[in-house]
Amino acid sequence: AIDLTGRHFLKELDFTAEEFRGLIALSAELKAAKKAGAEVQRLRGRNIALIFEKTSTRTRCAFEVAAADQGASTTYLDPSGSQMGHKESVKDTARVLGRMFDGIEYRGDSQEAVEELAAHGGVPVFNGLTDDWHPTQMLADVLTMTEHSAKPLEEIAFAYLGDARFNMGNSYLITGALLGMDVRIVAPAAYWPVQEIVDRANELAETSGARITLTEDVTEGVRGADFVVTDVWVSMGEPKEVWDERIAALAPYSVTMDVLRATGNADVKFMHCLPAYHDLGTKVAREVNERHGLTELEVTDEVFESSHSVVFDEAENRMHTIKAVLVATLAGGVQPA
Ligand code: CP
Ligand code: NVA
Repeated sequence: AIDLTGRHFLKELDFTAEEFRGLIALSAELKAAKKAGAEVQRLRGRNIALIFEKTSTRTRCAFEVAAADQGASTTYLDPSGSQMGHKESVKDTARVLGRMFDGIEYRGDSQEAVEELAAHGGVPVFNGLTDDWHPTQMLADVLTMTEHSAKPLEEIAFAYLGDARFNMGNSYLITGALLGMDVRIVAPAAYWPVQEIVDRANELAETSGARITLTEDVTEGVRGADFVVTDVWVSMGEPKEVWDERIAALAPYSVTMDVLRATGNADVKFMHCLPAYHDLGTKVAREVNERHGLTELEVTDEVFESSHSVVFDEAENRMHTIKAVLVATLAGGVQPA
């Protein structure tokens, strides 16, 4: 059995393929147990701190529901509700919260902050998204892929279109490389992950057998893909002004029906971590529309609402997979599937 008791969950690079697969298997078991009304609570009496320096719908709710299902309680600290980084250092915050809580989730811009919490908290720390990595999202995405493909993971091909220099692009590249998948990063070269991360992916691929492609060519990049995935072109914490540059560079990488057709796979699935700009349903999208006349950005509404789209299965899976992280790190490992 794989034992993850007491471990942090900070980035994909900290895990072996076997450990990552163990978490996916545990997620599937926990999901099935909940659906069957047969969930066993393994976190009764535990307390989990949720630090959010950036906003969230899915990640926060996933942690809260997962903890409640397992009998644990959560305390939510929003950007204005904690002293961390303003009046108190990350290191001191870690040592205080570590005395009260059994686990600490952190979402913010800085990977260094979540690593520092982990170094000083004395309890498992979970990365709920930083500018560099979004590892809990990767568990949900891989679980979703296994549910929507009959192929083993090593035979699944996915293409990520858009800004690949940020959390989602980095995490997809490393996760696919770790698990031996066929990974295509499809973006202008200026939007590819930094060379250090590409090098790590290529190193992982040597053992895992992953196929890694970075290309500017959409048609070549998506050919034969089982999944086409994307993310917002402007991430949380970035200034509004970058929209001009992003739209100019990334418009050809918008996921349209033509892009899905170019896969040559009638059964191709579309995924997005969400939130997504596919209509005028948000203030940001309306502002971009006023300025640029665009109603759809990284994905068209047609694709988002089509039968190819599995985005809400993916969103649901945030909860089951985060539950697996909590159970594995706080309640005694991962049993073999
Ligand atoms: N995908 C994701 O992390 O969503 P939230 O920002 O709503 O948590
Ligand atoms: N890249 C996005 C992901 C949101 C879940 C962001 O960081 O805002």
